Amino acid sequence: MKAVRKAVLPVAGLGTRFLPATKCMPKEMLPIVDKPLIQYAIEEAQAAGIASIMLITGRGKNLMEDHFDHAFELERTLELRGRLKELEIVRQFPEPSTIKYTRQQQALGLGHAIWCARDFVNDDPFAVILPDDMVLAERGCLSQMMDAYNDVGGNIVAVTEVPREHTNRYGILDVESDDGRLAKARGLVEKPDPADAPSTLSIIGRYILQPGVFAHLDKKQAGAGGEIQLTDAIAETLDSTPFHGLRYEGRRFDCGSKSGFIAANVAYALEREDMASDVRLALSEIMD
Ligand code: UTP
Repeated sequence: MKAVRKAVLPVAGLGTRFLPATKCMPKEMLPIVDKPLIQYAIEEAQAAGIASIMLITGRGKNLMEDHFDHAFELERTLELRGRLKELEIVRQFPEPSTIKYTRQQQALGLGHAIWCARDFVNDDPFAVILPDDMVLAERGCLSQMMDAYNDVGGNIVAVTEVPREHTNRYGILDVESDDGRLAKARGLVEKPDPADAPSTLSIIGRYILQPGVFAHLDKKQAGAGGEIQLTDAIAETLDSTPFHGLRYEGRRFDCGSKSGFIAANVAYALEREDMASDVRLALSEIMD
């Protein structure tokens, strides 16, 4: 079995739920405490052994390229002022050529965004991280998925239970067998009505996929919401490729929604020794 060393991070979406904040600034540059969403995603990928990352960007997303580059003026000023801690923080970015960029010229859907990485992925298994889905965990969500991948191979997604009335927001698994941690699926439906949903096990933004998925993405067929869906392409591979959902350990935050984003900021701040007590105090004052 080939090891997973590549990751694709689609960041070409319009981020309409965060307007006007995302009018000029990419959603993925919104900070959780003091670090942008995209940096958490890259760190999670690297912690899982990913060596090469492709960002699928779009118009107005150049800020992310700047973020992962030297900021000479800032670095020089910090150096002159002896602000060594801050200097170290701004110099934390991957080596040149670790991150590659390509543009999705039209936001035609997640499946189409992944299709844009076909030459980068080539014939290798690859991971997908949606930076606006965050998992606060001792061991990163993708690392947990790599462990599962080493056991069962094939296509793996991270899954979580959702209330039945919310199945029409997510990709939902049709489960064949389930050991409580790994669910083997025989089917996959994008955003089913609660009455038709085969389960309440929903996909979150972490995938390990075999390159065979591109044969289906190549057809560029629109699915739910008129978008080219990644789940439709994965569903097409079910006959040839085993497909599992992993119940990860950790707390997931949907940072693509405003309430999820705010909850993540609070949760990540409470994990920080340098600010937990101040934040706890501020929260208790607000709640009073
Ligand atoms: P979302 O469904 O969250 O869409 O995409 P969005 O555009 O980012 O946000 P809203 O709904 O308008 O507020 C999930 C992920 O897929 C990427 C997004 O950047 C995000 O990481 N995506 C989505 C693309 O890269 N291209 C697309 O065509 C669609």
